Amino acid sequence: MIHEKMQQAINEQINAELYSSYLYLSMTSFFYSINLPGFANWMRVQTQEELVHAMKFYDYLASRGGRVILKPVEGVPTSWESPLAVFEDAYKHEQKVTGLINKLVDLAIEISDHATNTFLQWFVNEQVEEEASADGVVQKLRLMGGQGSALFMIDQELATRMFTPPAKTRAA
Ligand code: FEO
Repeated sequence: MIHEKMQQAINEQINAELYSSYLYLSMTSFFYSINLPGFANWMRVQTQEELVHAMKFYDYLASRGGRVILKPVEGVPTSWESPLAVFEDAYKHEQKVTGLINKLVDLAIEISDHATNTFLQWFVNEQVEEEASADGVVQKLRLMGGQGSALFMIDQELATRMFTPPAKTRAA
């Protein structure tokens, strides 16, 4: 049986992952609205990845005999000044999520919940990738300039990102 404090913290993290998914879906809509389907595709894949993150926490909590409590998901921004502003926000958001994951690890250590600490290591590694992939697009937009043919080229590149469904999301 999982510690009450950890149950509450994981429930908050499920909400944060669902918020992330909602945020990236809003960014997807924004990119469709300014005719950048490749950028929209990238964000759409990110939306799906965040749902996978939420479900990993969901299934883990259930597998430890915990109770998942779904709370309202906060509203998200709906428009940005430029493609660069979108990716800067995405990068900042991922840095914030890294902080949340680190706090969960701190709690697991504090209450000697070794199983949860081990489970969380996947997310610790995932956040390195999450930050790097958002920052990679920020750097590209800054370097190439977020306009005209450079924007078109980046859009074509981001169109190639594909979602890979996890082999298994339901804990045994
Ligand atoms: Fe669920 Fe983008 O971290």
